[in-house]
Amino acid sequence: MARETMKVFCGNSVPQLAEKICKRLGISLGKATVDRFSDGEIRVKIEENIRGADVFIIQSTQSPAENLMELFLMLDAAKRASAARITAVIPYYGYARQDKKDEPRVPITAKLVADLLTQAGASRVLTLDLHAEQIQGFFDIPVDHLYATPLFAKFFGRRNLSAYIVVAPDAGSAKRSRGYAKRMGDLPMAIVDKRREMKDRPEALNLVGDVDGKVCLLLDDLISTGTTLIEAAGLLLKNGAKEVRVVATHGVFAADAVKKLAASPIQELVITDSLPVKDGLPAGKFHVLSIAELLSEAIRRINNGESVSSLFI
Ligand code: R5P
Repeated sequence: MARETMKVFCGNSVPQLAEKICKRLGISLGKATVDRFSDGEIRVKIEENIRGADVFIIQSTQSPAENLMELFLMLDAAKRASAARITAVIPYYGYARQDKKDEPRVPITAKLVADLLTQAGASRVLTLDLHAEQIQGFFDIPVDHLYATPLFAKFFGRRNLSAYIVVAPDAGSAKRSRGYAKRMGDLPMAIVDKRREMKDRPEALNLVGDVDGKVCLLLDDLISTGTTLIEAAGLLLKNGAKEVRVVATHGVFAADAVKKLAASPIQELVITDSLPVKDGLPAGKFHVLSIAELLSEAIRRINNGESVSSLFI
């Protein structure tokens, strides 16, 4: 049974995606002011009545931290406006890579952000391809964690995959890659053994599996500097791979990553619109798949009190 009236709002991080989601839901994006005071501080005002409503706030939390701050303030505004339930819809959960205390005197930022979201007013979270599955456990509220793999599988499913092999760019993403390989019709799998010597300087060292003569599909959760994928591609080609293609959910693209990837031997990169799509992505080499349908269906089911689990696969 449908719950209270659904209202969907967004901040400034992914407004186009939010519009697409609302279009699919057949509703208008809720009216909210999310701008700046004259001194640069963020000003938020929800411009319609949401008392007793089932509120969804769509906001990715990539750098700058203003995106996170906008989300905190929107959650707080919705809570104080007496919304019945507030779901933070976070297509890209930023600040996730610091998810453990792996050296002295560092924060566990992913946990801190989870606490702050809950404190700000989130009753539940809907997100996509978290950097690490265990981040779900950082929340004491329900988290629906979706995967973009069905979109990628559909995209590549139209091709002859007989020469394809799925490659995890590091041991941490082996489980995700195995699931994807299975979904693509039990494709074989290889793993790049990456060791991070210095922050932001990953190094591909070793390859587990045989890629000779294969089309390698590297699967990652995100592309930041692009170094991980470019180095992995080099290793695969050195080991006889015929081609290297990439699927990655979140196109963060720090600094000159797009330029570097465009010039790299990677043949094709498929990402989603969980983040604003960068200008100047070379068409033909980069493909952007929309997650609007996936997220709108999840929102519809959450509002209706239906199971979301069939979307998790
Ligand atoms: C690593 O654990 C992640 O899954 C990505 O491979 C990594 O964060 C990508 O970063 P970059 O593009 O800067 O190498």
